Amino acid sequence: MKIAVYGASGFTGGLALAELSRRGIAAVAVGRDAERLSESADRAGAQDADLRIAGLADHAALVEAFRDCDAVLNCAGPFALWGEPVVRAAIAAGSHYVDTTGEQGYLRHVLDAFDADARRAGVTVVPGLADDGGPGDLIAALVAARLGDVDDLLVADLRRPGAVSRGTARSMAAAEGAVPLEYRDGGWAPAPADETGRTIVVPGEPDKAEVASFALPGVVTVPRHVRARRVRGAIRAEVAALFGSLSAEAVESVPERPDEASRAAARWLMVAEASDRSGRTVRGEVTGTDAYGTTAVIAVEGARRLVADGAPAGTRTPAEAFDPADLLGFLEASGASWRVEAA
Ligand SMILES: NC(=O)c1ccc[n+]([C@@H]2O[C@H](COP(=O)([O-])OP(=O)(O)OC[C@H]3O[C@@H](n4cnc5c(N)ncnc54)[C@H](OP(=O)(O)O)[C@@H]3O)[C@@H](O)[C@H]2O)c1
Repeated sequence: MKIAVYGASGFTGGLALAELSRRGIAAVAVGRDAERLSESADRAGAQDADLRIAGLADHAALVEAFRDCDAVLNCAGPFALWGEPVVRAAIAAGSHYVDTTGEQGYLRHVLDAFDADARRAGVTVVPGLADDGGPGDLIAALVAARLGDVDDLLVADLRRPGAVSRGTARSMAAAEGAVPLEYRDGGWAPAPADETGRTIVVPGEPDKAEVASFALPGVVTVPRHVRARRVRGAIRAEVAALFGSLSAEAVESVPERPDEASRAAARWLMVAEASDRSGRTVRGEVTGTDAYGTTAVIAVEGARRLVADGAPAGTRTPAEAFDPADLLGFLEASGASWRVEAA
């Protein structure tokens, strides 16, 4: 099995190279800059990785770089700016595709725009296989399965501020101004501003946290496999305020790679809470540390499963492509834990 990492010179791309090396999977590091690719492969301890140069404007070079690869893992963001050429080239090369985006608009676009092409090519495309979109979609599927008839489903990313990479800050700044969506009565619409001011119980914390509507991946992915009247996304209000105030200068002051100590200290936490028309509520939680390390683990495992186990061709959400409980169970080896229970 051979997996290509596009954007392998970046922070997340480097972690993906390290994870492929740890798993004993042949890696192809692809990007636009030979020196940065080589430095990243060295830092990742992935000196065996095959280095290939292909810029985003050169479709033929991208296809050539991916041609003998079973899957492509795209880590080059902001995806709204740079994602599409990589998806197109992966499909043209006959490779499965996963990426680490958390950008709602891009995710929706890929799921809608590339389904027919991916089916024709016989490959599976799973955008949003990162520490928020992956666990969020998987836990929502398990919560909904316990409830049956879902009226309202909230996906919440309840991590505290901190341990963010410059690439994430750049992607958040690029998405600034995009109105968060919610799913309501069969379609997507701008989330009402009145969601701000709501509070939510946070596992392990004495006080409820204030949350604000946010453009989370789950709002786009969950309605593709859960029949619900309404699906909403929210994050802590303090994190939403931070993302909302990111200037270009502030982005450039964020460290390129958060250090290992702050990564290990920061907990990520995805919650899915759903109720039916009678008010019965089921809640699911997935949590762990080292969000970026977890992103590399789930993205590499997802790509590996597409190649080894197969999945229906086309664009798929994580919960459509993989068995949700089994993939969450896989994350336990990296320190994640999860549960689903009546609230
Ligand atoms: N949803 C989540 O939870 C989650 C988790 C992890 C990462 N992510 C996302 O993953 C993305 C990467 O994050 P990061 O921290 O790894 O960022 P990063 O360190 O800045 O890396 C960005 C990568 O994209 C490449 N790139 C940028 N512009 C390019 C262009 N015009 N042409 C070709 N390559 C280009 C860079 O290549 P050069 O080295 O040549 O500049 C680099 O390899 C971000 O969008 C981030 O939000 C999301």
